[in-house]
Amino acid sequence: MKLYNDILGLIGNTPLVRINHITRQHKIKATILAKMESLNPGYSVKDRIGISMIDWAEKEGVLKKGGTIIEATSGNTGIGLALVAAVRGYKCIFVLTDKVSVEKVRYLKSMGADVVVVPAAAKLGTPDHYHETAARIHRETPNSFYPDQYSHPANPLAHYRTTGPEVWNDTDGKVTHFVAGIGTGGTISGTGRYLKEMNPNIKIVGADPYGSIFKTYKESGHVPEATPYLVEGIGQSLPVGNADMKIVDEIVNVTDRDSFDYARLLSRREGIFCGGSTGTNFAAALKVAKDLDETGLIVFIVCDTGEHYLSKFHSDEWMKEKLLLEPQRITGGLIAETKNGTSPGELIFVGPDDLVSDALAKMNESGITQLPVIEDHRSVGSLRESGILTKLLANRDLLNSKVSEVMDKSFPVLDVDASFAEIKSKLQRNPAVLIEDFKRVTAIITRSDLLDIQA
Ligand SMILES: Cc1ncc(COP(=O)(O)O)c(C=O)c1O
Repeated sequence: MKLYNDILGLIGNTPLVRINHITRQHKIKATILAKMESLNPGYSVKDRIGISMIDWAEKEGVLKKGGTIIEATSGNTGIGLALVAAVRGYKCIFVLTDKVSVEKVRYLKSMGADVVVVPAAAKLGTPDHYHETAARIHRETPNSFYPDQYSHPANPLAHYRTTGPEVWNDTDGKVTHFVAGIGTGGTISGTGRYLKEMNPNIKIVGADPYGSIFKTYKESGHVPEATPYLVEGIGQSLPVGNADMKIVDEIVNVTDRDSFDYARLLSRREGIFCGGSTGTNFAAALKVAKDLDETGLIVFIVCDTGEHYLSKFHSDEWMKEKLLLEPQRITGGLIAETKNGTSPGELIFVGPDDLVSDALAKMNESGITQLPVIEDHRSVGSLRESGILTKLLANRDLLNSKVSEVMDKSFPVLDVDASFAEIKSKLQRNPAVLIEDFKRVTAIITRSDLLDIQA
């Protein structure tokens, strides 16, 4: 029989996958390979350290039967630890910041872990910081183990023993560059150390969000003031024990926009559905690759799955809210769905047979000055408050007439896929446009709805 005795047997030995379309588009001569850590059973690179830190604790007698594992995590290490805890019968308490996606929190809870969420803004050393909170819960919980992935030697060791040899063997020793983000530093330090031992010429490249300290710290030894960024799991505001800067040759800074754009592109063009830190790594890999010839062979880490971020950067609505969406994806449908004030799907309109007095009352009630006239889901005309009032001044009896007798021509009707540019141009000459989906008018967009869009 071909089987695994438990799910933990599936950790590691992840495949390398060649990037094809994007490299061709960027005219890159070097080979870029994705190390698919998202294919681990907990869908991230952190499964490797979950099991290695627990193996260490069991061997040292620090973690005993029925014990509780406590960790400060951006989610993935929690998932890696929770996998092992499920199989071996431990309890888990994880401390996360409110920056972490709701998907990861739900995932951890569904694996039986208790989750404590603290503010991401809490400064290191203050009681609310996630490290301090985890340390306090550890002190207060009998028979508990707090691995502290930021300093635990079993973290980089897992990568020295597994990720490094896999990259070396699977590339037949031809790898020239290894690219990874730096959260705890375990991946880059452990894998990097192994690869450097095999061939000191291999370049180890750190991919770091703008706002994190690592680039300045590596280049000058000075620790700058960190500023916030949106990518999860990588970057720091202070140096960490497991991030060995001597192993790292170069650090490339990447913007949130590039991280998310490249992560989204990997899924659309290569079918690699990944998290934001993978986008950071890939952006850095592309930058490094531009200066290499055919002999260059870059391996970058696909840190985790995109499923953890469906409510975040894999959603056009979230990207638009953060002013990060590529202009070509800002369509009529998206503007209508995410505009302020109305709930999605709510279109205020009148019918051609309604009374003018009722139409005016509707405008007053909803505080709008223009209404589409809709019949059988199609636009047949429009009403503008100023136009009706002018007509009423001349003839008050029109109040009792039908809308069809006073209405103007319809606002332009555009499809849900209409581009931002098309909508903007129509709104230069019309007070509103209507959006239709499958030939049914579903929404109205006015000039003010475009004001909060950056494209
Ligand atoms: C999504 C994600 N990417 C990358 C990393 C960085 O890995 P490492 O901690 O080994 O530096 C982490 C670590 O938490 C992570 O959660």
